[in-house]
Amino acid sequence: MSAGAIRDKWDRIYSASTEDEPEAAEVLSNNAHLLPPSGDALDLACGLGGNALFLARRGFRVSAWDISPLALARITTLAGRSGLKVEAQARDVEAEPIPQVAFDVVVVSRFLARPLAGPIGGSLRPGGLLFYQTFVRGKLHPAGPGNPNYLLAENELLDLFAGLRVLFYREDGRVGDLTSGRRDEAYFVGQKR
Ligand SMILES: C[S@@+](CC[C@H](N)C(=O)[O-])C[C@H]1O[C@@H](n2cnc3c(N)ncnc32)[C@H](O)[C@@H]1O
Repeated sequence: MSAGAIRDKWDRIYSASTEDEPEAAEVLSNNAHLLPPSGDALDLACGLGGNALFLARRGFRVSAWDISPLALARITTLAGRSGLKVEAQARDVEAEPIPQVAFDVVVVSRFLARPLAGPIGGSLRPGGLLFYQTFVRGKLHPAGPGNPNYLLAENELLDLFAGLRVLFYREDGRVGDLTSGRRDEAYFVGQKR
């Protein structure tokens, strides 16, 4: 799909969504105790900016990048409503280079572009944290992409970010009682050494 088609698709989706403030991804909200007290943060492929707003509320200087101008306009409105500042930027993250050694915190939720793993890891400052959460191939429920190219293989986040120190990893897969647990996504927090 071309960048223009991706942008139009997500603009359409977001134009039909509610204007409520979105929640941060679980990987971030459940592991917020790992965050440094302040710094520069990036919400990559931020959508409506649940992660960006969460981090701005905690005092981070936040950049939020997405290909959908509509999503970014929504973030700016939501941030302004709460007296927060988020640097929301329309950006094709697969085409534009990611600045290196630039962030203390990077969050990626529900977005997977494997060629970006190196640049994402490289965008962290020493000691910086990557919070990553997205859908797995073995997911049980319809939410998330159908195309396996956009779904994680087993342990794939561990492989993609093998250069980082692992602080947290969860991937329940299809082990045990499938009526409970977190079956659809993998969750990773890693630290740049
Ligand atoms: C499933 S949504 C996830 C949004 C948000 N991170 C969340 O967890 O709610 C995927 C997002 O990736 C964005 N996206 C897709 N391709 C992109 C690209 N090449 N550059 C920037 N953003 C992109 C879409 O616009 C969309 O907002």
